[in-house]
Amino acid sequence: MNITIAPSVLSANFGEISEEIERVVEAGTPWIHLDVMDGSFVPNITFGAVAAKSFKKPKGAVFDAHLMVVHPERHIESFAKAGADIITVHAEATHHLHQTVQQIKKCGLKAAVALNPATSLEVLDWIYSELDMVLLMSVNPGWGGQQFIPAIYEKIEKLANKLNEQGLSIPIQVDGGIKPSTIRRAVSAGATNLVAGSAVFDNGSSVAEYHENIQALLQEAERGILDRSQIV
Ligand code: DX5
Ligand code: ZN
Repeated sequence: MNITIAPSVLSANFGEISEEIERVVEAGTPWIHLDVMDGSFVPNITFGAVAAKSFKKPKGAVFDAHLMVVHPERHIESFAKAGADIITVHAEATHHLHQTVQQIKKCGLKAAVALNPATSLEVLDWIYSELDMVLLMSVNPGWGGQQFIPAIYEKIEKLANKLNEQGLSIPIQVDGGIKPSTIRRAVSAGATNLVAGSAVFDNGSSVAEYHENIQALLQEAERGILDRSQIV
């Protein structure tokens, strides 16, 4: 599976969010990760569907809405209308995970489930076949710019093995602390979709600088692919 870098707009300049999205798409990364925080599931508040609807979506872009909100089932329809292509809900945030996943699919969108660092993979055991992607948090959600939690490398590997056993080839998205220094090991463990906020947006503000930051990640990811091909 190809490696996807998913810039998280959490670290972008919110004053010109549509332009920032356009820049990273132009820099070669059409997968845009929208971090939605409600001040309850996580302490921070970012934006909701009303604001997301105003983000201009470049042609060919994918909007991936990571809902760090309690009762995400209440917001699925509005994010579908706001232009999301894939919605990720936290297993910890909904009582009826299976039903919530079905709700996303009924809206015609791809469905993904996110797990906090301390949440066991077992919660996915009975819904793997329903999922279009799994998101493993490699930091505790709520802020950008945190350190990757090293125990998650093993969790990625376990998830990759489980998916393999079941014959499923869906992306493993990893979110938090992805930098040139962590991406290689995450990819060699089996991650294929890497969310990167600060690593993309913190150094620079132009298409050329974002391109450079993305290339630095991809270069290390390539090494991770090689490492993995020697393991599996
Ligand atoms: C954390 C968010 C992440 C965050 C990643 O709660 O879900 O998407 O923006 O930021 P970095 O890449 O800076 O760790
Ligand atoms: Zn995220």
